[in-house]
Amino acid sequence: MLLKKIITGGLLACAIVTTAQEHNLVVDGSRTNGAVQPTMWGIFFEDINLGADGGIYAELVKNRSFEFIKPLMGWDLNGKKLKEGSFLVVNEAAVRPNNPRFLQVTMNDCDTGDLGLVNEGFRGMGIRKDLNFDFSVQYRRATAPVTLSLELLNSQDKPIGHGSLVLPATGDAWQKATVQFRSTDTAQRGRLQIWVSGNGRVDLDQLSLFPGDTWKGRQGGLRADMVQALADLKPGFIRFPGGCIVEGHELSTRYQWKKTVGPVEDRPLSINRWNNEFAHRAAPDYFQTFGLGFFEYFQLAEDIGAAPLPILSCGMACQFNSAELAPLDELEPYIQDALDLVEFANGDVQTKWGALRASMGHPTPFHLKMIGVGNENWGPQYLERLAVFTARLKARHPEVKLVTSAGPFSSGEMFETLDKALRAQKADIIDEHYYMPPNWFLRNAARYDRYDRQGPKIFAGEYAAHPPTVPQGPLRNNWQAALAEAAFMTGLERNAAVVEMCSYAPLFAHADGWQWSPDLIWVDNLHVYPTPNYYVQQLYSLNKGTKTIPLEENRAPLSGQDSLYASAVVDEKESLLIIKLVNADAVEKKTTLQLKGFHIKVREVERIDMKSDDALAVNPVGAPALIKPQQRREPFRSANWQVALPPHSFTVLRIPYRK
Ligand code: AHR
Repeated sequence: MLLKKIITGGLLACAIVTTAQEHNLVVDGSRTNGAVQPTMWGIFFEDINLGADGGIYAELVKNRSFEFIKPLMGWDLNGKKLKEGSFLVVNEAAVRPNNPRFLQVTMNDCDTGDLGLVNEGFRGMGIRKDLNFDFSVQYRRATAPVTLSLELLNSQDKPIGHGSLVLPATGDAWQKATVQFRSTDTAQRGRLQIWVSGNGRVDLDQLSLFPGDTWKGRQGGLRADMVQALADLKPGFIRFPGGCIVEGHELSTRYQWKKTVGPVEDRPLSINRWNNEFAHRAAPDYFQTFGLGFFEYFQLAEDIGAAPLPILSCGMACQFNSAELAPLDELEPYIQDALDLVEFANGDVQTKWGALRASMGHPTPFHLKMIGVGNENWGPQYLERLAVFTARLKARHPEVKLVTSAGPFSSGEMFETLDKALRAQKADIIDEHYYMPPNWFLRNAARYDRYDRQGPKIFAGEYAAHPPTVPQGPLRNNWQAALAEAAFMTGLERNAAVVEMCSYAPLFAHADGWQWSPDLIWVDNLHVYPTPNYYVQQLYSLNKGTKTIPLEENRAPLSGQDSLYASAVVDEKESLLIIKLVNADAVEKKTTLQLKGFHIKVREVERIDMKSDDALAVNPVGAPALIKPQQRREPFRSANWQVALPPHSFTVLRIPYRK
């Protein structure tokens, strides 16, 4: 026995006197705590922190159709012959209500350099060397042929790519022209210069630029590196499109999926609710083009093997903002949206919405099996609206499970009232949210041990450990937060019989354009930076197993005793026992593992550790990850197997067994 005095700073340890004891842990393969659902570890997507526009949606041109509140935001006009009236923003709302504005250009014998416009991109444009770029434009009423000369510029205004496009003289109908050209260098914050040359007039709209390396090479598609980061999580589900963005500040700015499908140019722009939510992180140029709309969300879900979970407005605007309500007798459009969404996702191609899905390139269904009714809504107003939704949706689609809101908090009167009511009405799935300090996660790892196994299933729909506020800059995804989540997740896993879905939130943050932190994955215009929290999520997801089994010390789950946390699953298809161990203390812990009910012949097993001596360490943006899983072989002994757990560590052991 070693008596040791430990004095460290930070959350994970305080001045304590502890006795280093050996922990005898018993893993019992002859018993089970229940099945782990394929949906267990998923992702939460919201267009926050430039997650969609300026993020995963690979469009590089900001305000491509001049529909931002300030129509020329993101654009600079330039050129030797630039004068008043060279560029006019025309609004044709009566003719094109969804996309009313366009740019009317008047040229006077213009050549390259005479009349131009520059787009600054979303905090610049990420340009990779030797890559094809796809430029497109809609145009009409060209009185004579017009040439568009395109230049990619780096941050020193040096051209690093040229393209050119001739628009023939045309009549009143809008035409689309495209050209592909290649970059000659890399720029983190590039821009696009467009010179307009010719004589007379032309109308221009939808000026767009995409990199040629989008996910699956889809035109107008998604950033491949960001999608890959999601695919690498092997998520069981993807929740979309949020978050508060579902609700809107007011009802008129709620997310309306029908406005996000069909031709991209017909999807009306909407302000992003994170544009002006936080005064200290205002993003006046944050709008939603819906280039990533509901079709693309379903397609993304399919691509990465995740079950789609759309969340819809239930007629309540965000209760932290306007809290506007649609009266109960005016809920019909909201309910119809939900019913039509099932048809859009699953309906036969002969149906109205199934036909639209097919026309967008996906005749086969998207296999929608769950819908969320409201996000973080609460109070009797929510319960009244939910009752109407439930009755109507269940009558038409009993096969679709409903995800219902437990409000924004993890406990308290608001939570208790909702929880009680939702249980009384036998809700399918209750969506709980908690953004709390790391210590809360450590203290609450046993939260679900006492939840009723016969009651509604739980969706831990938004959670993240938030370390103390940093005066300047984002709250950090430091190791203490990630480790606290890893500890808490042992409790989620142990209770997979009742917790069927979990997702960290938010998912993405652009280093130059975030509003909320911490976040799971940081990006800049050219790179993706997984946080320690990302790797924790990934280790759980890649080691999900098919059923949980007891892992106990003194016949009790290990859930914080001596700062240790643990859970175990078996993967019956792979014949693999997987043990997760968290040491949240600043000293090494010794464990002895006794594996009951397994026939194991190997002498070594796979061991994966995440650890850092510095609880406050982060994976920096702009540099390789410091904290990530380290894999090695660990000697295995069938009796008295001793496994030491380093300070501040998360360990996964993968042990093949014989059937
Ligand atoms: O994840 C960020 C926000 O947190 C979500 O939009 C909202 O649901 C929650 O309050």
